Amino acid sequence: MSAAVDEQEEQEQAASAETADAAADAIDSVLAQLDEELVALEPVKTRIREIAALLVIDRLRREADLTSSRPSLHMSFTGNPGTGKTTVALKMAEILHRLGYIDKPKVVSVTRDDLVGQYVGHTAPKTREVLKRATGGVLFIDEAYYLYRPENERDYGQEAIEILLQVMESERENLVVVLAGYRDRMEIFFRSNPGMGSRVAHHIHFPDFDVDELMAIGAVMLEQQTYKLTDDAEAAFREYVERRVQRPRFAHGRSIRNAIDRARMRQASRLYERRDELDRDELMTIEADDIRASSVFSDDDDDGDLGSDDKAVAPGNES
Ligand SMILES: Nc1ncnc2c1ncn2[C@@H]1O[C@H](COP(=O)(O)OP(=O)(O)O)[C@@H](O)[C@H]1O
Ligand SMILES: [Mg+2]
Repeated sequence: MSAAVDEQEEQEQAASAETADAAADAIDSVLAQLDEELVALEPVKTRIREIAALLVIDRLRREADLTSSRPSLHMSFTGNPGTGKTTVALKMAEILHRLGYIDKPKVVSVTRDDLVGQYVGHTAPKTREVLKRATGGVLFIDEAYYLYRPENERDYGQEAIEILLQVMESERENLVVVLAGYRDRMEIFFRSNPGMGSRVAHHIHFPDFDVDELMAIGAVMLEQQTYKLTDDAEAAFREYVERRVQRPRFAHGRSIRNAIDRARMRQASRLYERRDELDRDELMTIEADDIRASSVFSDDDDDGDLGSDDKAVAPGNES
C-alpha cells in the first residue's frame, strides 16, 4: 500500500471521527461549493440542503442517544441527460462521508450491463461483485429502469433487483444507492417495483436548463479551463446553443462541454501554424469562427458534432 493511500485512509478515519459540529462546518463548505460551481438547479440545491440538515440533526440525535437507527438514505435522481445528476451524486457522496454514513466519498457508477448477466447463474455474481466494489460508498445506477424488462418472460434483471432490494433493506449496510434516469420511466419503474420505490427516501428532480442557463454553464466551464470568448464568439455561442437545443441527442451540460471541446480543437488548428509567435491572450481566446464552423450551423444532422452528446465522450468526462 502506498503512502498516499495510507494518508488518504488516515484522513478518512479522521473525518469519520469528527464531531457532528465539525462535520456540519465541512458540509457548509461542500454546500457553498455546490452553489458556486453549479449554475441554476435551485430546487436541487434546496433539496440537498434539506437532506444535509436532516443528516446533521440525525447525527446530533445519535450523539445524544436519542436514536440509534440509520435513516434511510437511498435516493432517486431524475432528469434529462446532462442536467447534473452524476455531478451532484459526487457532492452527495462527500456529504454522506463527512457525516460518517459511508466510509469513503466514492461513487461507483453502473448500468444494467454491469449488474445483469446474459446467461442463467451469471447475474447474482455480477451484482454481488458490483455491490462489493461500491460498499463503503455510493452505488449510482444510471437508467435504473432498464433492470426491469417485463416484456421478456425470463429476464435476469429481476434477479439483480431482488439482490439490490435485500441490500437496500438492511439499515446496517455501509452503502447508499442512487437510482438515476428519465423521470417518466423512473415513475413507471417504481410503480412496477413498489419495493424499490419504498426503499428510496429522497426523490430529487433535475429540471432542464434554458438557453441563458446553458450559456452560464458554458461560462463556468470556459473560466475553469482558462479560455474566453470574444464578443462575437459569445454571440455565435448563444446562436449555437439556441440551435443545439432543437437538434437530436441534445444533452444539456454535456452538449455544452462537448461544444467547448470542439471549439478548443478548432482554435488550436487555427493557431497551429503560428505557434511560435502566440501571446497569452491569443492562447486564451476563442473566436466566432471557432464556433461557427460547427455542423450545428449547417443542416447536416448526422455528422460528429451531434453524435455523442447523449453519452460521455470518455470515462471521466462525466464529472
Ligand atoms: N448546473 C450545472 N452547472 C455547471 N455545470 C453543469 C451543471 N449541470 C451539469 N453540468 C456539467 O454538464 C456535464 C454533464 O453533467 P452530468 O452530471 O454528467 O449530467 P447527468 O449525470 O445528469 O447526465 C458535466 O460536465 C457537468 O459538469
Ligand atoms: Mg450521468
